[in-house]
Order: sequence, then C-alpha cells, then structure tokens
Amino acid sequence: MPKGAIMNVAFAQATVDSGIPSRMSVDDIAIELFAAGQPAPVHALSAGECTVADRLGKRARFEYLCGRAAQKSALAALGLDTDTSLVRMPHRSLSLTHAGDIAVAAYTGADRVLGIGVDFEPHANVNADRARFFLTPRELQTWPDVLHPDHAPDLLRLWTVKEALYKATADNDALTVRDFTVNEPWAWNGVAALTGRPDVALRYVTTVARGGYLTVAAAFAAQPAMAAV
Ligand SMILES: CC(C)(COP(=O)(O)OP(=O)(O)OC[C@H]1O[C@@H](n2cnc3c(N)ncnc32)[C@H](O)[C@@H]1OP(=O)(O)O)[C@@H](O)C(=O)NCCC(=O)NCCS
Repeated sequence: MPKGAIMNVAFAQATVDSGIPSRMSVDDIAIELFAAGQPAPVHALSAGECTVADRLGKRARFEYLCGRAAQKSALAALGLDTDTSLVRMPHRSLSLTHAGDIAVAAYTGADRVLGIGVDFEPHANVNADRARFFLTPRELQTWPDVLHPDHAPDLLRLWTVKEALYKATADNDALTVRDFTVNEPWAWNGVAALTGRPDVALRYVTTVARGGYLTVAAAFAAQPAMAAV
C-alpha cells in the first residue's frame, strides 16, 4: 500500500458533517473536495511541515495544520507524496482554501485541466468599494446593479469566483483577480477570460455551503467553442 493510502485513512473522518460537498463538476471535469476541521497530527508531519508549523502562533498553526490535513488527503487520493512542503501553488491538480474553522482541499485526476482553484468564504462582507477593486469595467458594464446593496451576497459570491479563477491559473505571480473577467457575473456557473491570454479558457461553478459561497474553477487550453466573448 502506498504511503499516501495510509494517510488517507488517517484523515478520512475530517469530512464528516463538514457541510462541504464532496464533489463539484466544472464542464465535464469532476473536482473532488475534502474538508478538514481537525489539524493534521504531529506524527503525520514531514520535517518541512514541522519547520513551518513551529514558526506559527496558536491560531495560524491550527489553520495551517487543518490545511495540511485536507491537502494530505487530496495528495493521497491522487497517489502523490503527502508531504505538502513539496507542493507549490498554483498546482495543476490541487487547490486549497481556509475559512473559519475548516480547510477545504480540491483535487482532480483529470488530465485535461491546466489547473484548478477553490475558494470558500463563509460570511465575509464585501461592499461596493471593495467590489470596484476586483470587478472589471466589463463586468460592471454588464451588470451595473451588482453594486446595489441588495446584491451584497452576489459580491461575496463573485469574490470567491475571482479567487478560484486566480488559483486555477498557472504562473499567476504577476496577476491579480482583476485580470479575470466573468462573462455573465450573475451566473452561478460559467465562463471567464484572462486578459491577454486567449489561449486559456476558464470555467467555474459556485454553490452555497455553510451559509457562504464555495467556488471551484478550472483552466483549460482554449478551444473556439469554449472561449469567452
Ligand atoms: C494567494 C491568495 C489566492 C490566497 O487566497 P485567500 O483567500 O487569502 O486564502 P485561502 O485560504 O482561500 O487560500 C490560501 C491557500 O491558497 C494557496 N495559494 C497560495 N498562493 C497561491 C497561488 N499563487 N496560486 C494558487 N494558490 C495559492 C495556498 O495553498 C494557500 O494555503 P496555504 O498557505 O495554507 O498552503 C490571495 O491572497 C491572492 O493573492 N489573491 C490574488 C491576488 C489579488 O488580486 N489580490 C488582491 C487582494 S484584495
């Protein structure tokens, strides 16, 4: 049995009653989700993970170790080494988000994707000023009413979309969320474009989870039928 399979058993209980779906589909790609509400146990940590954890304060250490628990389960399911200190984000098959008392890892075995992203926001408040920062002129032109206070939940939803799109994109160091334009900002699943990169097609799907929004996104090599307007 590979080392990863043992780790998967060790972390399997963490998903119980998380309120997070275990799978979401983007286009025809299945993205598996694993939520961890308990820290990875110290004995399961690599030397690299211990080094990071030992530098953190209590709260940050808890969040980091929940993230390791979720990510280790995802790596194990992918048949990869479960030492998360070897993982570099963005990753083609894996993504991670922290929110409140849980961490959620997303992963896929699909080889058609260039990258995947996940973002979960349980209850943040996004106002119009902040939204003007992350929405593009085209998005605001397409849906000017989105800045009305009645649409505050949509702003939070769109924030998770932008973050998931960003995380799904390779070589994103020089990018910001404002480089991504959602074709139909009111849609709970749809297409997005990356400025200056017509070769990359992006799709996302959002769901309600634990009273907030959970979005997964995937990047593909663009084909004419998938490209955003
Ligand atoms: C990196 C970033 C995506 C993290 O998002 P966040 O909502 O703060 O935090 P989340 O808990 O959802 O995600 C954190 C995880 O994202 C992953 N991550 C970090 N950098 C990443 C990157 N460049 N690409 C993909 N995933 C990344 C990591 O796994 C991290 O968890 P870890 O540090 O425990 O391993 C975000 O800080 C960012 O840089 N956004 C885009 C840049 C931008 O436009 N910023 C404007 C902010 S107003």
